[in-house]
Order: sequence, then C-alpha cells, then structure tokens
Amino acid sequence: MVSPDLPAELKAALNAKLEGLSRSDAASRAAVISKVYREGGGSGTIKSETDALAYALARMPATYAAVIASLNALVEIRPNFAPNSLLDIGAGPGTATWAAAEAFPSLQHFTLLDANDALQTLAQALFRDSTRLGGVVYQLGQARALLAETEAADFIVASYMIGEIGDADRAALTETLWARTTDTLLVVEPGTPAGYARIIALRAQLIAAGAHVVAPCPHDGACPLAAPDWCHFSQRLQRSRAHKQVKGAEVPFEDERFAYVALTRAPLPQRPSRVLAQTLVGKAEISAKLCTREGLAVKKIPRRAKADYALARRWRWGDAVQASDAGHSESKEINSH
Ligand SMILES: C[S@@+](CC[C@H](N)C(=O)[O-])C[C@H]1O[C@@H](n2cnc3c(N)ncnc32)[C@H](O)[C@@H]1O
Repeated sequence: MVSPDLPAELKAALNAKLEGLSRSDAASRAAVISKVYREGGGSGTIKSETDALAYALARMPATYAAVIASLNALVEIRPNFAPNSLLDIGAGPGTATWAAAEAFPSLQHFTLLDANDALQTLAQALFRDSTRLGGVVYQLGQARALLAETEAADFIVASYMIGEIGDADRAALTETLWARTTDTLLVVEPGTPAGYARIIALRAQLIAAGAHVVAPCPHDGACPLAAPDWCHFSQRLQRSRAHKQVKGAEVPFEDERFAYVALTRAPLPQRPSRVLAQTLVGKAEISAKLCTREGLAVKKIPRRAKADYALARRWRWGDAVQASDAGHSESKEINSH
C-alpha cells in the first residue's frame, strides 16, 4: 500500500516554491479558487503563478491522497499490473503522475496533457529536480484534440478532470480516453452525488464498449445504489503547516471524499466485495454495508462468531473483502442488480 501523503521529493519541491510567497496572498487566492470550484466552475480562474501554487497547496495533497487510495484499490485487485506508459489527462500540477510513479515502479514514459499554462509551468518546476520524473512530456491544449495526436498508453488517469468538461462533450472525451487506453483507465472525481453520477455514466458507457471494472465494483452490472445514496469513499491525509495556513485551518488532517472507477480491457476473475460505508460496531454485532457480486448487502456479523467478528472489526470503508471473510454471518440482501 502506497502512503497517501505527498512523496518527500514533491514536498521538497513545493517547499522550495513557497519561498518568497506571501501566505496571505496564497490563502486569499486559494479561497477564491475553492469558491469557484464549489459553485461548479473549473480551473479557469487559475491564471498566475501564485494561483497555481495556491491551488497546489490547498488541493494537491487531497487529490493526491484520493488518487493513491484508488491506485491502492486497483493494485490490490491486479497486483501484476505493471504499466510502462502513463497518460495523465487534465494533469494540472502533475498530481496523478506523482501518484502513479509511486504506485508503479514499472512506469517509464509519462505524458501529461492540460489546457492551463500556469499549472503546466508549476508542474514542470515541481518535476525539474525529480530523479524519476525530470523527463516527463507535458503538452498544453484541449485534452480531446491532444489525445487524438498522442500515442496510446498502458495506463490513463483523469483525476478531478471530467467534471470540467461540459455534459455534451464528456461522452466524446470518454470515448477518446478509452480509444487511447491499451490496458487500464482510472477516473477519479470528487465524492459528491454529481461526481458519482459522472463516474457512473462513464462506467456504463465503457462497459457497453467492452470494458471491465477492476475497482471499486465487484461486477460489471448496473450500480445497485439508488438515490439519494451514492458510491463514494474517504481518505484521510495529514496537513502540513503551509497547507493549514493556505486553508486557514487548525486541524492537522482532513478527509477527502472521492469517487472513482478503474476499467480494463481483459475480463477479470471473481472480484471481492467492497465495503461501502464505515462499519457499525455494536455490542452484539458488526453491521457492514457491502457491494457484492449479487448486489447490495448489509452483512451482520454477530459477536458470538468470534473469528468472523475479529475479521470484520478490521474492515474499513473502501476495503475489498471476500464474501467468505465472514462466512458464518447473516447476509441480508437489500437490493440487487
Ligand atoms: C481540478 S484540476 C485537477 C488537476 C489534477 N488532475 C489533480 O488531480 O490535482 C482539473 C484540470 O483539468 C484541466 N482541464 C479541464 N478541462 C480540460 C480540457 N478540456 N483539456 C485539457 N485540460 C483540461 C484543467 O486545466 C485543470 O488543470
């Protein structure tokens, strides 16, 4: 499992960029950028070097942590996946590239695409002294047009990006992303109902085109969750001093809510169930909400089933668990697909 905290090389590069930066300027720009995001706007408001750095300080630790959590889930299901080439779409400050480099020592070729030149400039400065990422290719322009001219890659990541594409264009971008994926595509979004809806639409489109889900779903069927419920996960990350200053926050950690899907070309053997919420540990039993191959289930594991209970106590929201992990427990189907 790769740590959700930023790698030392990236922290050092960010710290070097911070020298001479006014924390109050960065904090006020970060507040404006976050407000635009909350109101459904995109990265268009990031225009200057200070904006790019403010965005990176405020958001990169969290988006990095969400990508790492998704990559950890992917690697758990496909431990032998060893991609050679990466395409990072809507790469921004390079977040997903740093994360993929940590998760996959096999990666040798890194290509990043983005339309924002302030973020491109920052990303290139952050990569400059990296032993592994010093030679990345970072292309500036519209993702779809660039993708049409870019070589296919084993692994493509679009992290917190597809939400910036209008509804009318997203299906066409999805098609192009898949056409350029020789093996696996990972898409990560904010863990909101809207982020989940985008993930679910992309998932359905690509399954119809022949893709198979690696994670989080244990099946390629329709999502069994019904509104107002939605599939999302949570990753805790530590906040550095600069991160706290830019966010005007006191608490030394934050929990990033995210939604994701990893899709691949080859069918997978049976996949484990997924824990969809924090388990409820009561006096008499543990109750766990699971997505299983057969649908949604609330699994009740009584304390008297000692071994199963001990196992289920270790289950965390987002974990992949075998149905047999709590073999003697009751299982109540509450929906199916
Ligand atoms: C919220 S940022 C995410 C950056 C990075 N992937 C991360 O996870 O931290 C979204 C990025 O997508 C880029 N983007 C949005 N629409 C794009 C498009 N049509 N073509 C290229 N890049 C785009 C933005 O410029 C921005 O850098």
